[in-house]
Amino acid sequence: MTIRTTIRSTGSYLPEKIMTNADMEKIFDTTDEWIVQRSGIRQRHFAAKDETTTDMAIAAAKDALKSAGLEGSDIDGVIVATSTPDSTFPSVAVKVQAALGVKGGPAFDIQAVCSGFVYALTVADSLVRTGAAKRFLLIGAEKFSSIVNWEDRTTGVLFADGAGAVVLEAAEGKGTVEDRGIISTHLHSDGSLKDILYVDGGVSSTGTAGHIKMEGKEVFRHAVSMMSEVVAEVLEHNNITADQIQWLVPHQANIRIIESTGKKLGMSMDRVVVTVDHHGNTSAASIPLALNEAVKDGRIRKGDLMLLEALGGGLVWGAALVRY
Ligand code: UT7
Repeated sequence: MTIRTTIRSTGSYLPEKIMTNADMEKIFDTTDEWIVQRSGIRQRHFAAKDETTTDMAIAAAKDALKSAGLEGSDIDGVIVATSTPDSTFPSVAVKVQAALGVKGGPAFDIQAVCSGFVYALTVADSLVRTGAAKRFLLIGAEKFSSIVNWEDRTTGVLFADGAGAVVLEAAEGKGTVEDRGIISTHLHSDGSLKDILYVDGGVSSTGTAGHIKMEGKEVFRHAVSMMSEVVAEVLEHNNITADQIQWLVPHQANIRIIESTGKKLGMSMDRVVVTVDHHGNTSAASIPLALNEAVKDGRIRKGDLMLLEALGGGLVWGAALVRY
């Protein structure tokens, strides 16, 4: 018998305010055509001025709890993947814990930028398997509009806000790829590439939150090759072929990167969950937002095998094989 960390339910929250590419044309020297062709983005959501990452995380968590038929008091701990917390400390996670009446188990944030959800999934899986907690709320929540440089069209049209959540819970498995839950996770980093995607501020440097800086072409190049490598690693590690995977649920940064990974796996685009067109790049929130959308509209069903993958500033990247 093996302990597996299963996904019991999903939830999401998107801010009310929708910004179309036509709205971006009013802010930046850009065009709908350029944004769609280069990134695949058509619209995105921006949080209200007084709406925090915590507010969005709580709303997504409530949605996931409702879908599971659970209360906050049924949950042992909270992990939030975010690079845009509302305070330097305490964490977003403890605020969620208090707001939802989650039991006083572990509550902390993880910062791995756009790979945050895959990193957090790995940590939560370890904690569930060692018995530290039986049920976790795992949330990806971001307010990237607060670190966008409104003078920089190269990044300003890409990033957005939102939150996605899952309820994770321990279950018994056989230790095979047929089990429900997290089958394997694969994390990587290369800090020598830290200067191609970063924020030019912080607590111990400028004392400000700073703004996103990105060498888009360079990040793109690395993303295509690293995603291709890490999905191959997942297949080899689990001794499976791509046709055994029902769904690719990728980080939503750019449709061209997503299509390239799908192609590498030989998966047709109807097996790839795409939300970048209507969510933009919501960093750590993008995978749980995409997952929730495909679960709620009935595409992803219990028992389906999914491959999750992401790359973000650092660079940090990773993938997870999960049977829903
Ligand atoms: O989530 C974390 C990981 N992030 C990513 O994976 C993002 C990876 N990178 C990308 O998605 C793409 O590189 C971008 C979408 C950011 C850019 O696409 P690109 O095809 O690499 O374009 P580029 O940066 O090479 O820019 C091409 C041209 C440049 O003009 P010149 O030098 O050719 O005259 C830019 O100045 O497009 C120009 N440009 C724009 N034009 C209109 C850059 N931004 C814009 C804009 N509107 N918003």
